Amino acid sequence: MLKKIGVTIVLSAFIFSATILPAWSAEKIDVRKMAEDIAQFLVSTRRIVAQMVDVINTHGAKVAEPLPSGAPYAFKGIIPAYMGRVIGEDFFKNTGIRLKQTTLGKGEFGPRNSYNAPDDWESEVLTRFYEPSYPKGKGYGEESDMDGKRVYRYMLPLYIEKSCLKCHGDPATSPTGDGKDIAGKPMENYKEGDVRGAISVIIPIEDKLGTS
Ligand code: HEC
Repeated sequence: MLKKIGVTIVLSAFIFSATILPAWSAEKIDVRKMAEDIAQFLVSTRRIVAQMVDVINTHGAKVAEPLPSGAPYAFKGIIPAYMGRVIGEDFFKNTGIRLKQTTLGKGEFGPRNSYNAPDDWESEVLTRFYEPSYPKGKGYGEESDMDGKRVYRYMLPLYIEKSCLKCHGDPATSPTGDGKDIAGKPMENYKEGDVRGAISVIIPIEDKLGTS
């Protein structure tokens, strides 16, 4: 019996190493793809939060059910940018990968929160994203040095969707009638499809992935 288990374990280990390990060791991590997917994941998180703003703030509301009519509405501050920021900070603690949402703003409006202000590299890439001829949805990434460390930097453009207009759309639709959104910030009059900014990803490549 013991012998049989031993054989099974050895055999399983062999099959495991024969089928999985070579695939792992032969694989070179595609840092760009990794950065892109991480950015897309944050875009999804933010998008879903934007779509759920009314459910979050309406008393008695439930996911996938019509909003209860006449129910009290209390803004809780759970918005895409807040979630993006705290998720980014938590993710950084666990992975060393920085995730940030940034923007050049629009016209007289700069970033709503200086925490999201772009650094020089981000400003340069954002400027390209804002060009009307820039291909929609296309990210940009390159290796770079940051604080004496080798990193891979990547940015994915972020666009205004329907659910964003509640806060970033026409000031004439302000819920408080003063051109401000429910968070009390001036609405910038963005239109659906406008570039709102980008998700910025910074991956340390020396110690993390051993690619150099
Ligand atoms: C409920 C209101 C609300 C909704 C809906 C909303 N936002 Fe915002 N957004 C804000 C507020 C408020 C801030 C400033 C956050 C802060 O102070 O950290 C902000 C900040 C941002 C930022 C960071 C840059 C900056 O200006 O500081 C980006 C990018 C952004 N929003 C994009 C979007 C996109 C894209 C959507 C739709 C998917 C969206 N927002 C939906 C209220 C909203």
